[in-house]
Amino acid sequence: MFARRIVVVGTGYVGLTTGACLASLGHRVVCSDVNEQKVAELSRGEVRIHEPGLAELVQEGIAAGRLEFVVGSAGAVAEAEVVFLCVPTPMGSGGAADLAVVEAVAQEVREVLPTGCVMVTKSTVPVGTSKRLAEHLDRADVAVVSNPEFLREGSAVHDFLNPDRIVVGSDTQDAAERVAALYSRLGAPTVLTDAASAEMVKYAANCFLATKLSYVNAIAELCEQLGADITDVTEGMGYDRRIGQSFLQPGPGWGGSCLPKDTAALLQVAEAVEFDFPLLRATISSNSHQRQRMVAKVREACGGVLAGERIGLLGLTFKAGTDDLRDSPALEVAQLLAAEGAELVAYDPGLRGDEPELPTGLTLVDDPYQAAKEASALVLLTEWQEFRSLDWNRIADALAGLVVVDTRNHLDPDVLRRANLSWRGVGRTPVT
Ligand code: UGA
Repeated sequence: MFARRIVVVGTGYVGLTTGACLASLGHRVVCSDVNEQKVAELSRGEVRIHEPGLAELVQEGIAAGRLEFVVGSAGAVAEAEVVFLCVPTPMGSGGAADLAVVEAVAQEVREVLPTGCVMVTKSTVPVGTSKRLAEHLDRADVAVVSNPEFLREGSAVHDFLNPDRIVVGSDTQDAAERVAALYSRLGAPTVLTDAASAEMVKYAANCFLATKLSYVNAIAELCEQLGADITDVTEGMGYDRRIGQSFLQPGPGWGGSCLPKDTAALLQVAEAVEFDFPLLRATISSNSHQRQRMVAKVREACGGVLAGERIGLLGLTFKAGTDDLRDSPALEVAQLLAAEGAELVAYDPGLRGDEPELPTGLTLVDDPYQAAKEASALVLLTEWQEFRSLDWNRIADALAGLVVVDTRNHLDPDVLRRANLSWRGVGRTPVT
């Protein structure tokens, strides 16, 4: 494998992970960003993103002379063989992905891209974007390739270096093969296809995962009504290799910066071609219902009325292992509880306390026992590992109402019962 000269535009968790990991595979990588302060910090090896192993890889890359950071993309691409676009594609009007940043970068670099270079979209972009980008660039000597990422926040470095698959699509076969070759050391199954199909893989995969979770959450609700136990049900389902054990954990619904955005975008794309997609609509609406359902559980635990009740919350981030609050189900549940007049005291090991997104009526504290203090109920919303080993006798002493609502089935009900606490989970019989 030959080391390549690579430019990565955008140093968010996808761009920085891509840059640092490609450098660790031996390539020479320049990462560009518009934010001068961020570039200065990264050049010193300071990483603000919460991703295990990322800071170390960045520092190693810099020390080895294979990774550098620059401001602006135009200067960076002059000698590039491959340019990765890793810029945000937020949810725009009506759920469609907003491609303004992708197009602005294309505009900025179009005249300076060297002949024979390959432009790769890694950001999740609607089917047809590679084609539009090629038109936008209007450079017959520059090929456009779609190479979607499948990185989970919180395990992005691990996912990059241990991929289930590499997907590369282009209408120029040779360019697709050159991009696929960058990953050859990883030995992953590689799907070489056209640009539209590669773009579709990303949406189809994320929407399938969202549908799997909405299905599991609905089955969990049904289990509650029929007296079945979702933990045993999903275990029994998961041994079927066609289903698999992963992504079967019920909870307050799926969130984060990807699944909500991508389900809305695919629905929008389908509507644009007048394709009716009731299954995807149900996936999305069933997810909103989960938030309400969790609020109902807390209301019931508080005796039917939330107004004036003090509620302790464990976890606010959209999942454990991240400091990301974007589209967090926990935050939405908190907002709904606050809207009913509950007074909220929350603890989250990933948050420092300066987050502007926190709803009014919510106080962030820096230890879980303080969150429990004099609360009518304690509600676990994010599955941080450390919540499993809390001192439950101490929690019971702190609480006013001896009830824990576990929206992730994360805790051991028997451990709580021994501390005289009653446990209410999802899709399982409460333990008192
Ligand atoms: C997701 C996909 O898993 C990645 O493959 C994809 O690359 C990424 O989006 C993206 O498009 O960039 P991520 O958003 O980091 O990754 O988070 P996940 O770990 O997939 O979790 C998504 C949501 O589902 C979270 O709210 C999580 O708590 C929830 N979830 C996940 C469950 O409720 N139960 C589960 O069993 C798994």
